[in-house]
Amino acid sequence: MPDTIELNGISHHFDTAHERIELFRDLSYTIRADETLAIVGASGAGKSSLLAIAAGLDTPAGGDVRFNIDGGQVNALTMRASSGFIFQQFHLMPELDAIGNLALPLRLKGKRNAFDIAALWLEKVGLKDRARHRPHQLSGGEQQRIAVARAFVTAPRFIFADEPTGNLDRRTSESVAGLMFDCARETGCGLVIVTHSRQLAMRADASVLLDAGQLKAAA
Ligand SMILES: Nc1ncnc2c1ncn2[C@@H]1O[C@H](COP(=O)(O)OP(=O)(O)OP(=O)(O)O)[C@@H](O)[C@H]1O
Ligand SMILES: [Mg+2]
Repeated sequence: MPDTIELNGISHHFDTAHERIELFRDLSYTIRADETLAIVGASGAGKSSLLAIAAGLDTPAGGDVRFNIDGGQVNALTMRASSGFIFQQFHLMPELDAIGNLALPLRLKGKRNAFDIAALWLEKVGLKDRARHRPHQLSGGEQQRIAVARAFVTAPRFIFADEPTGNLDRRTSESVAGLMFDCARETGCGLVIVTHSRQLAMRADASVLLDAGQLKAAA
């Protein structure tokens, strides 16, 4: 049985001063760690909100979410600790060099050999010779390769990527996407990608469209 995230009849909304923004109603879907999933949909459809709920970062207003890891149900805290995140804006720590950024999540988990594991991942993403460079000394594509490595470095069960290639040119996007999918398949980690890019969505095993509060098979 693969690790899974079960979204069971979830609903969610945001209240503003003037109106209620309904995002989903009675949405059900099971995300599996043994496949890669792309979520597409119009801007404002609720993709980032759905990703936050699936990762245990937010709780839906209605319905329930179950995180199943190693055959047992875990809470949102454990789910978050078993997850890696990749964002459009890279979000590297500006004061840390490349290897320092990779070692950070491991150090936060109290791993003694943080820098050794970080060095292995740095090599894996092809940036071994940039270990001592800080983010502002790296190109966007290089920064995102570091961010990809940082997401995988703690051996998570699921990676959540929100528009991971949104700030990259086409060629760089393809190489970063290739890296993400290769790492996910090699490590057996689930990968959930929110994207506006058809090319990126087509790489995933499954592709769904978030539209009018429901997930539908993407065309
Ligand atoms: N914390 C919040 N408070 C109020 N409204 C919010 C909040 N977060 C998101 N929203 C609203 O919920 C809707 C869905 O937002 P969300 O960011 O999930 O969309 P999205 O599909 O990721 O869009 P995009 O493709 O532009 O990133 C939007 O109308 C947004 O303004
Ligand atoms: Mg979004």
